[in-house]
Amino acid sequence: MAEIKKHWYKEMSVYQVWPRSFKDGNGDGVGDLKGILEKLDYIKSLGVDAIWFSPLYKSPQHDYGYDIADYKDINPEYGTLEDFKAVLNAAHEKGLRVIMDLVINHTSNEHKWFLESMKGKDNPYHDYYFWRDGKQPGGKKASNNWKSTFTGPAWEYNAALDQWYLHLFTKEQPDLNMDNPKVREEIKEIIRFWLDLGVDGFREDVITFISKREGLPTGFPIPVACGMEHYKCGPHLDEYLAEFRKVTDDYDCMTVGEAPMMTPKLALRFIREGAGQVLNMMFNFQHMEADCFMISWIPMPFNLHKLKAAYDRWQRKLYGVAWNANYIENHDQPRVISRYGSEKYRVESGKMLATMYICQSGTPFIYQGQEIGMTNIRLDSVDDYVDIQTKDTYKLYRKLGLPHKAVMKITNRASRDNGRTPVQWSAEANAGFTTAETPWFAVNPNYKEINVAAAEADPDSILNYYRRLLKFRKENEICIYGDFRQHYKRSGKLFVYERNSQGQRMLVVNSFTEKPVYFEAPQGFDLSKGELALSNYPVADQSINSFMTKPYETRVYLFK
Ligand code: GLC
Ligand code: CA
Repeated sequence: MAEIKKHWYKEMSVYQVWPRSFKDGNGDGVGDLKGILEKLDYIKSLGVDAIWFSPLYKSPQHDYGYDIADYKDINPEYGTLEDFKAVLNAAHEKGLRVIMDLVINHTSNEHKWFLESMKGKDNPYHDYYFWRDGKQPGGKKASNNWKSTFTGPAWEYNAALDQWYLHLFTKEQPDLNMDNPKVREEIKEIIRFWLDLGVDGFREDVITFISKREGLPTGFPIPVACGMEHYKCGPHLDEYLAEFRKVTDDYDCMTVGEAPMMTPKLALRFIREGAGQVLNMMFNFQHMEADCFMISWIPMPFNLHKLKAAYDRWQRKLYGVAWNANYIENHDQPRVISRYGSEKYRVESGKMLATMYICQSGTPFIYQGQEIGMTNIRLDSVDDYVDIQTKDTYKLYRKLGLPHKAVMKITNRASRDNGRTPVQWSAEANAGFTTAETPWFAVNPNYKEINVAAAEADPDSILNYYRRLLKFRKENEICIYGDFRQHYKRSGKLFVYERNSQGQRMLVVNSFTEKPVYFEAPQGFDLSKGELALSNYPVADQSINSFMTKPYETRVYLFK
């Protein structure tokens, strides 16, 4: 067995805050730093060790903060830099580390660099972005066929310059030209700025897209994200990340990079421990594709085989040489109970899904509201949605000829807004998220039943289960550093695995169905010799070696 290097980033668990919908502290309907400060004790009470903040920076909010207008200031709706420092200090006092979102593939089109770059071809900021002449003058044809990873072309025309700029996301998010050494110097300065303030790490947004192939060659003609083969893990990515790492190495800093379309083999190029390592961890997407084809907008029936195969690959290929970043929800994903679990068996499946991923090898990330089992919202009209990707994809599907009803069904299921409804704190008006009459975005109508206050009062709630689970992980090294081996590999209903560490063993049994399934302890396991450490049902006799599973049952046995 490989020798595992211990580190705080491997032992921690992280709570993700998407500020706009977390907690409104000043009654204007929008989440903010004051609200976050109020709820730090709550976050701490979960047993996590760190908070990752989705962008808090100044931003026109076209993509809710992932379009940054000033990297060194806080969005006025959320508060001031002083308010941020207060949150940072309070978090540190409570023993919580703070991780910032670093969005450097692109800026906002309202960033001063971009405003300058538009002023003329000889402006010193012009080369901060990818400005190109069109194939034909007058805005008739862009210089290549690349398409946005959302929808539409990846180029926007500017008549004054008679040039186009590249944007891999929305047109309000122009891509930075990372090949310009001045841009990299700016980024390094931004990294230092936050580390000097005292933050403990970065989640790096679509970081694998920052290096584009020279000449921006024609892309393979696909309708969305055309050109990706020329910027995903592009030619200078390793080099640029190594430059940034030199900065973070001066601090006690952790990094986790978001990496769409990533495989373990490719990931090891960046996260293999040793001299060449440029990131501590990567967020991959393969386990989020068990109910869709690549993206949630191309839905498919949930397939446990697909889920297990993805986990198996990442768990085994990284073990001992790199480290996983484990998540089942974030601000880009619909709620997991509505996807991989069951709204009917919400509490049971919520606990099972938590166990299923937190007991694997890797650092667990928990997204706001996940810990109380929030579910998808189903809005009646596309106008009620606020996410730009949702609106654009709806339009695209309609343009392709799909009927409104069918597209709404997909939208309800796939929209990123599912994960962005305000956190449900209580059964009071607007779920206790805000004292304003109307929150900035719809509260899920199920808040009277699903909310933090109700979950606090119920010892068997999903919330209290998360607390037990995170405590268990912290107290049992095997749950952090143990290896991973699957059983029941061919089962389409059960996900069973064991972990091993220093002669100890742990067996994790998860059922993904409401139907009873016959389970028998795998060879070499005698359940009567183990301790049932966690479960989502009372178990009359935990020592019996075989049983019929209950709906979405989960059990964790420890063998010391
Ligand atoms: C990442 C973010 C997402 C954003 C996109 C562009 O995928 O998580 O929310 O829209 O990058 O910044
Ligand atoms: Ca507010």
